[in-house]
Amino acid sequence: MRILLIGGAGYVGALLLPYLTRRHEVVVFDRKPPDTPAEHIVGDATDLSALRGAMKGADVLIHCAMGADDLDPAVGAAQAYDVNVKSVHLALLAAHENGVPHAVHISSLSVYRDLLDRTLSGEEPPDATDLYGLTKQLGEQVCHAAAREWGLTVTILRLTWPTADADWPAWTRWGEPIVHHTSDGVLVEPTAASDLAAAVLSAMDYRSGCETFLVSGDTSARRWSIDKARRLLGWEPKFEPPA
Ligand SMILES: NC(=O)c1ccc[n+]([C@@H]2O[C@H](COP(=O)([O-])OP(=O)(O)OC[C@H]3O[C@@H](n4cnc5c(N)ncnc54)[C@H](O)[C@@H]3O)[C@@H](O)[C@H]2O)c1
Repeated sequence: MRILLIGGAGYVGALLLPYLTRRHEVVVFDRKPPDTPAEHIVGDATDLSALRGAMKGADVLIHCAMGADDLDPAVGAAQAYDVNVKSVHLALLAAHENGVPHAVHISSLSVYRDLLDRTLSGEEPPDATDLYGLTKQLGEQVCHAAAREWGLTVTILRLTWPTADADWPAWTRWGEPIVHHTSDGVLVEPTAASDLAAAVLSAMDYRSGCETFLVSGDTSARRWSIDKARRLLGWEPKFEPPA
């Protein structure tokens, strides 16, 4: 399949690209080039005409872009709404217009607040109120609306702390390794890139309306249910750290 990977030059894109390029033709659409060799279109994910052009010939869209944090609250809010919400809408519109039948939307378990000490089935209404969590919720709503409005299928994956296999059990999004624990001291394991890629590959094939899946590599604290992913995507974490 030919995948258009929007935002594929970022942290999650770098985790995914080696696995995706092994099986599929991948075109990264991003403002900056990816570190992993892949076809690259320089573009702004809020530019509808650029998205329309990039979408031609694609079989599936993966939306993996994220608004950058900015200390200036006005800039940060504009980035978050522009990339986490508006670009999702425009990318799905461009997909629809170009006959791309399916999209995978990369979301986050951060659509919920107080994650570490909370048990979640994934069916609870999202309740985060911070800018990131709120705009990720809105991005998911855009996917649901697009599926109803335009008839394409969208599979939403709520990721939890994706990390390189070599860095596991630390999460390294900000460079420094971070290890998460519940307040009673239980390790909460991140999601290894190999498991993340397996979830994305399954999500590319799962095509039914607009469904949301919680993707967590944690098998230690077990706060968050992956039953739906296990049942419908046939996915569960398989990563085992070297002995
Ligand atoms: N990093 C994590 O731990 C984590 C956890 C859960 C979910 N997620 C989700 O994964 C996705 C990717 O996150 P990430 O950590 O890789 O972010 P990132 O900031 O590392 O990468 C985002 C990419 O999007 C690109 N981008 C941003 N705005 C753009 C625009 N207007 N036009 C074109 N490209 C643009 C950036 O250049 C960058 O390459 C997001 O949807 C995020 O919510 C990430």
